[in-house]
Amino acid sequence: MAVKIKINFSRQLSALTSAEREIINSISGLGAKRGERAYIVGGFARDILLGFPNFDIDCVVEGDACALAEEFAKSFGGNIVSVNRKFHTAKIKKDNLTIDIASAREEKYASAGALPIVRSSTIKHDTLRRDFTINAIYISINRGDFGHLSCEKAYLTDLRKGLIRVFHKNSFEDDPTRIFRAVRFAARFGFNIESNTKRLMQKALKDGMLKKISSFRVKRELSLLLKEKNAPEAIEIAFATGLAKAALPGIKKTAVKDLKTARLIWFDFFIYLGEQFNLFLYMLLVLLKDLSCARRKKFVETLNLNKKDTAVLLYPRSRMDKILRGIIKNIPAWRVDADELRDEQLLFLVLLAASKNPPTGAKVEKRVMDYILMLKTKKPFHSSFELMRMGFACEKLGGLTKEITGKRRGGKILSKSQEYGFLVRKLKK
Ligand code: CTP
Repeated sequence: MAVKIKINFSRQLSALTSAEREIINSISGLGAKRGERAYIVGGFARDILLGFPNFDIDCVVEGDACALAEEFAKSFGGNIVSVNRKFHTAKIKKDNLTIDIASAREEKYASAGALPIVRSSTIKHDTLRRDFTINAIYISINRGDFGHLSCEKAYLTDLRKGLIRVFHKNSFEDDPTRIFRAVRFAARFGFNIESNTKRLMQKALKDGMLKKISSFRVKRELSLLLKEKNAPEAIEIAFATGLAKAALPGIKKTAVKDLKTARLIWFDFFIYLGEQFNLFLYMLLVLLKDLSCARRKKFVETLNLNKKDTAVLLYPRSRMDKILRGIIKNIPAWRVDADELRDEQLLFLVLLAASKNPPTGAKVEKRVMDYILMLKTKKPFHSSFELMRMGFACEKLGGLTKEITGKRRGGKILSKSQEYGFLVRKLKK
């Protein structure tokens, strides 16, 4: 039965940021002006009710989403990232938030895994095209019934009970990425996949539906899964449901334990990692840890990653072990050659150390962690800009930085003034 419930939206709204509230009010005002009803939907509505943060505002409008998005950007600012007139969707970036606006629509799938054929519709029909009941809850942002929640009562029950449930028996055939999504939401919220949904999911896996989706979409889903805070739990669920067997050939259940350790290591080093740290790549390295070289290569090829990321995943284990031995034996840093490793690989080194048998494992892990901290902190005091201002030629900077780094790590330069003295002497030569 469809219900209209007036929820205490003001409480939920106060939990949103002022930027989010402003965007919602702006869309509400535009909808009124254009005579189109607008709603908060999907993950954003779900997370408001669950009290989870979500930086992706999903809106549906009973009208022209593309025109509304363009008017929004013109009146309130923000960058239009994409407008898709065929699918009646638009994406805007504003204040670090993403706003997805879609026209209420119905979808038909011509074949498994293909993109849907869409037709404008009403909010009521829009519900039925969605993946799971917990993602089909709508909150009106229209004047008059602002904050009213609109959906079948059963959807709210699923959200309260923590159940992931599809709408119809062909849901996974229509869009097999939903198999990954079910696992992702189950892990993220600690939800269960409802028994019939699980059965349908397993049937779709058995029927080889994953092969129907492009490698790009598989990579995207795997990346979203491994970037979840609960990625180890997600992989555990992937094993329990059969997704791991189909999508991660050769990976053993022991990977879950490694991923849990890897997550702790990531937390430990978090403050030292820059924005370019690729969590997906790091977790993938861990996931593939025990695969033979040939199997790893075969799997990595299916992902179509860029050259640099592929090289990280296929970096020879023998070389990694050699670096690890160098650190364990306390060989001076400049001879170990860990500089060629990316941060994802350095953290993976810690994991390799931690996987050694106790009590040696813990000791080795500590030594590798200290070593990496040294790599992260003992860098030249002077920036490239400062070096150039002092008079060093641009083409000399690479070699000079290496030389200073060696001296910093060897304890020969302990302060910025010492480093300055060294640089002045160098210029005089
Ligand atoms: N959706 C769907 N089927 C898909 C992808 C998306 O039905 N294969 C619908 C769902 O209703 C979903 C909404 O589109 O809630 C928005 O999609 P997306 O942003 O990918 O999902 P979220 O639920 O917001 O996921 P997340 O919290 O991970 O961003």
